[in-house]
Amino acid sequence: MTEFAQRMTDILNNGALNLAMAIGYKNRIFDVLKDLNKPVTVSEIAAASGLNERYLGEWLGIMVTGKIIELSRTADGEDAYFLPSEHAAFLTRTSGSNNLGVYTQEIPLLTSCAMEAVNNGFQTGEGIPFSQYPDFQQFMGQLANAKHRQGLIADFLPSVDNGKLLARLTEGVRVCDLGCGEGVALNLMADAFPKSSFVGIDNHEDAIRVGRFEARDMGLSNVEYKNQNAAKIDENKGFYQQFDYITAFDAIHDQSHPLEALKGVYSMLAPGGLFSMIDIKAYSNHADNLDHPMGPFLYTVSMMHCMPVGLNDNGTGLGMMWGREQAEDMLKEAGFESIEVLEMEHDGFNLHYLCCVENR
Ligand SMILES: C[S@@+](CC[C@H](N)C(=O)[O-])C[C@H]1O[C@@H](n2cnc3c(N)ncnc32)[C@H](O)[C@@H]1O
Repeated sequence: MTEFAQRMTDILNNGALNLAMAIGYKNRIFDVLKDLNKPVTVSEIAAASGLNERYLGEWLGIMVTGKIIELSRTADGEDAYFLPSEHAAFLTRTSGSNNLGVYTQEIPLLTSCAMEAVNNGFQTGEGIPFSQYPDFQQFMGQLANAKHRQGLIADFLPSVDNGKLLARLTEGVRVCDLGCGEGVALNLMADAFPKSSFVGIDNHEDAIRVGRFEARDMGLSNVEYKNQNAAKIDENKGFYQQFDYITAFDAIHDQSHPLEALKGVYSMLAPGGLFSMIDIKAYSNHADNLDHPMGPFLYTVSMMHCMPVGLNDNGTGLGMMWGREQAEDMLKEAGFESIEVLEMEHDGFNLHYLCCVENR
């Protein structure tokens, strides 16, 4: 077999494995296997998971040939399956920021939502409405849970502005999360800093409803959610210089009008205010991303969702891989003069663009 033929074979096998692992993740099979923590038969897995034995048998065939699960024999000669702990550490709902299992769902989800629409886009150049992705917010909520529950309060916020932000949050400041989605980050922050006040902005009503419900369940009285188009913040004078700290987690690159949104952020900050834009770690040119460890995956997610969504409404269609050069240029164009681009130890996927408004 030539080298490229071997590579093609790997691609077909790995694509198939991604799909099967997404099904395993969704049905919590990895979580069940981790809890069982020993070699078990298919009927034991069926009993522990409540799933159909025949479907499980086929799935286990994929997992053992794909070297995700180990195969051995019981004393009675039955097949026994074992998920090694070093694999479980990246595949279960308790894996925290190491949870790569949750990402296996992304390509299958986007394919089921938008395969045909993306094919059409190649002919027409048109964007794809957000409504084409009904399960997307819920999926983003799962990602946010995996990312933020472990790292946001313990690692990220203490790192901002050499710890000075933490002191300000503890004393009480006004905070906004732009493109807050289902509000995982916002509610965590509101819970951790009861003397500060928190506003979540998003234009997806179903998502912010989830955030509101959770805030109520958590008994939070210092958080509110507003349905607002980020591109039109400028028109809402009530926001002008109202915030000391603004965050945007993974929420600028798929805006239709990101420059207007960033100008909105600039106008919302009070003197001395800080803006943390967390966005994908990449360069703007293809040539500089050749060694990106997740280049094909991230460009594909972008092609299937971020870019077409960003093309709506005569939008810019930046795409997820807009990269740091374009990001820095746009932040400057929006008015930010002081921009630091920081790596984050707890989140290798993203960069932290920390922007400060000193004087106005
Ligand atoms: C990729 S999600 C990120 C959600 C959340 N920050 C997180 O980390 O899970 C991007 C969010 O931006 C929101 N968004 C996109 N365009 C927007 C706009 N024009 N105005 C306000 N929100 C917008 C979407 O509804 C979505 O919730």
